[in-house]
Amino acid sequence: MPRIAYVNGRYASAAEASVHIEDRGYQFSDGVYEVCLVVDGAYWDEEGHLARLDRSLEALSIARPMSERALKTVMAALVRKNRLKTALVYIQVTRGVAPRNHSFPDKKIEPAIVMTARAFNLEKSEKLASAGVDVVMEPDIRWGRVDIKSISLLPNVLAKQAAKKAGAVEAWLVKGDKVTEGSSSNAWIVTRDGELVTHPLGHEVLGGITRQTVIACAEELQMRVVERAFTTEEAMDAAEAFLTSASTLVMPVVRIDGKNIGEGKPGPVSKRLREAYIERCSVR
Ligand code: PDD
Repeated sequence: MPRIAYVNGRYASAAEASVHIEDRGYQFSDGVYEVCLVVDGAYWDEEGHLARLDRSLEALSIARPMSERALKTVMAALVRKNRLKTALVYIQVTRGVAPRNHSFPDKKIEPAIVMTARAFNLEKSEKLASAGVDVVMEPDIRWGRVDIKSISLLPNVLAKQAAKKAGAVEAWLVKGDKVTEGSSSNAWIVTRDGELVTHPLGHEVLGGITRQTVIACAEELQMRVVERAFTTEEAMDAAEAFLTSASTLVMPVVRIDGKNIGEGKPGPVSKRLREAYIERCSVR
């Protein structure tokens, strides 16, 4: 069955769907995106993802392509048309099409929207989580507004490629001696005295929707969460480490730059939080 994409108001075979060569997303990365997980028809953290899409559009003065209600309808239709039950939905909105000129077009243009859905294997993710993953440290060379979920991701692409080359699944980005976040996830450690630490919100990290829900889960479990930057040294010395994102949920990190974290296997806090996150999203 051909994959179906949603492109500017139409459902089309992904192989045949096309966007204009003067789409500003294609020429300038002038656009934003979201990734949202749907499990057995239930959209995890959907409200959070759609609210952040709105914030990203607002931050770049890109018009809303459609109402939130219409977005939800298209997401559901796309998953259905692709005969998927558990899937990652990708939404991309760009400023639109105009002759190439760096500044915004003078004429009002329609934003361009593309949505795709692909199967997500929760069992495979569970398997990965029970073994834990490797990360490597890479310098954070991104721009100063990474809180906007922009499609301009070249530094993230390069960092992820470096991780892949080193046999790891993620790169933790380092600014000065502090870890900001992963190339496509937020970074967390559990200190030896049981504190959960992750970088505070601001311009230096993307405010992860999973991060936000995991904080709520941790608080419910009476765990101590401290939103502060942690150093690479603290990470190496942590009792546990993990990462969060819509596509990895809560993923235990067992090695950084080849060195074991804690006992080199997923720790109890990471495991408990993964369970709690899945439980919380599943019952909504
Ligand atoms: N990435 N930080 C960065 C740089 C990210 O790209 C992401 C998400 C996150 C986690 O955000 P959330 O919990 O809302 O998924 C943090 C998505 C999954 C991606 O680019 O595919």
